[in-house]
Amino acid sequence: MGLTRVPGLLFGGDYNPEQWPEEVWQEDVRLMAEAGVNLVTVAVFSWSRLEPAPGAYDFGWLDRVLDLLHEHGIAVDLATATATPPPWLVRAHPEVRPVDAGGTRLEFGSRQGYCPSSPVFRAATVRLARALAERYRAHPALAMWHVSNEYADHTAECYCEESARDFRRWLQARHRSLDGLNTAWGTSCWGQHYTDWTQVEPPRKAPGPVNPAQLLDWRRFSSDALLACFEAERAVLKEVTPDVPVTTNFMSVLRDLDYWSWAAAEDVVTDDAYPDPADPRAEVKAALSYDLMRSLKRQPWLLLESAPSAVSWRAVNVPKDPGVMRLHSLQALAHGSDGVMFFQWRQARYGPEKFHSAMLPHGGTGTRQWRETLALGADVRRLAEVAGATTAAEVALLLDWDSWWGLEAPESMPSDRLRLHELLLSWYAPLHARGVAVDLAPPGRDLSDYRLVIAPNLYLCTAGHAAALAAHPGRLVVGPFSGVVDAADQVHDGGAPGPLRDLLGVRVEEWRPLPDGVTQEVVTTDGTSLTARTWTEWLEAAEGTEVLARYRGGPLHGRPAVTRRGAATYLSCLPEDPAPLLDELLAAAGITGVAGPGLPAGVEACRRGRYLFLLNHGTEPATVSLPEPGTDLLTGRPLPGGPVTLGPRDAVVLKPRPTTP
Ligand code: GLA
Repeated sequence: MGLTRVPGLLFGGDYNPEQWPEEVWQEDVRLMAEAGVNLVTVAVFSWSRLEPAPGAYDFGWLDRVLDLLHEHGIAVDLATATATPPPWLVRAHPEVRPVDAGGTRLEFGSRQGYCPSSPVFRAATVRLARALAERYRAHPALAMWHVSNEYADHTAECYCEESARDFRRWLQARHRSLDGLNTAWGTSCWGQHYTDWTQVEPPRKAPGPVNPAQLLDWRRFSSDALLACFEAERAVLKEVTPDVPVTTNFMSVLRDLDYWSWAAAEDVVTDDAYPDPADPRAEVKAALSYDLMRSLKRQPWLLLESAPSAVSWRAVNVPKDPGVMRLHSLQALAHGSDGVMFFQWRQARYGPEKFHSAMLPHGGTGTRQWRETLALGADVRRLAEVAGATTAAEVALLLDWDSWWGLEAPESMPSDRLRLHELLLSWYAPLHARGVAVDLAPPGRDLSDYRLVIAPNLYLCTAGHAAALAAHPGRLVVGPFSGVVDAADQVHDGGAPGPLRDLLGVRVEEWRPLPDGVTQEVVTTDGTSLTARTWTEWLEAAEGTEVLARYRGGPLHGRPAVTRRGAATYLSCLPEDPAPLLDELLAAAGITGVAGPGLPAGVEACRRGRYLFLLNHGTEPATVSLPEPGTDLLTGRPLPGGPVTLGPRDAVVLKPRPTTP
């Protein structure tokens, strides 16, 4: 059994039957069955259709949809329909609409038009969730609950009066007293000392830079406020249907929500991923977000939405070339997804997403899109046995939302060019190119499963983080501008890397960010020259700390750039290509790529359980040496081991031959 009650891998998408006359539903289910669809997400934006007036429900159409789907063997990821409050709620309680940082209350007419802290909104969502749970608790199609939709997509925060009150309550719980808040926020700076809680407000648009400690608490609060919305609905679903898994769809590597705490509240991690076909790094970014999803609960997850081809919300919406939908779907499976789901099943005829691709396009069944949908359904069935298989990674990349929020505070940092997603990618990309499996991990966790832990940046670093890193028995790499502040965004005494100083054996005297386009040469002790961009530091190495590379030229000439103390390496700069350092670290830790060395460019290799996925993202054939013989699950072809040629955008899923005892 997989993530839901549906066996094998899941295949399907968002289904919006309320946008179509009922005759069309018959064709929908027939074509779904033909494509092998076994799960659809229903009712995501259906609140105004399910509850057209307060407390007056119209479930008849949804009953018919669920019955019809069930008759055709299709299970349902049933949404609680709370992603768009209906017009009657908004008109009766205009204060449920969110307010932006400039004080404008946003109008009805799109989606997610709610204030996360609104008690009226929360109560109404819980009422609807209960009504749905009670109605469908025993429906045989019900496989999973889908709470709301993509929290923080349009409304990540709200600056209204209600939110201000909620923020104050949250601050009181965190800081206990006003003195505690004044100290934590450093309000002696710029005359911000508060003498009454009512003076404390969200960080609305102000004449100049907002207090970064206030902003950090605001980001924590905003993530928690949305999480409270999720948890309120989840509680009622669990009460009525304790055995049905509950999820809400995440948005890949998203800054707004601390997904570590969110995932802990979910039964199943699900993700919506929309790699841009026009982005040359699309596959690497997708792989990073899939690895994050797998790491959140350290178990299989589900790609709940992806685009069959073009989306409709970028400035230029490039479609996927033939074969790319399949390859990107296989990539998600390779990284631990237990299925492939799309937005959406049937392409809309109206609304902002009428040009968004779908499994069944406007042109119907005579199209390339439909043929690729059918073929993908067949591929997913061929891979059914992969469901539930897990990934063993020896490398962990650290990701901490507090640190991310602190690092990206506007208008107060030495440079605004340090962006956490990019810093993660700078390490992740070369690991991915080498076929090395990577988990993401929060810094305070026990890291003993990993031979190599990389912290691309830990701007905010607590004593607890430092202790967890010091206790890590394997190798550790820490990137620049780490150990700078504590949990309240206050600079550690004695300078960076603060609580990591003893572990790393270095002290930073000065940040030296580089202007755009300026580079700094760094030379390793064996003479390899690296180019650093964006960031350098004036570093002092303590006695007993080895210097692995020094700056060459400029004011830092001859000073340490990369150091090592014991198993801990510190980088004070951002090398354009960290490959030479990375290869040395991997070799020292005894880590190799899952498909061995020499993976051709553009080929991705992932091991999931015993299955080896080889994906050629390139437009030319590529030859890979198989580390073992087996069978390609996609074609049924036996493969003897040794060289195998992958066609352009083609893949092999190798099931190794069982070894004879
Ligand atoms: C997200 C949303 C969907 C849809 C798609 C379009 O995934 O959850 O409702 O808007 O984006 O790409």
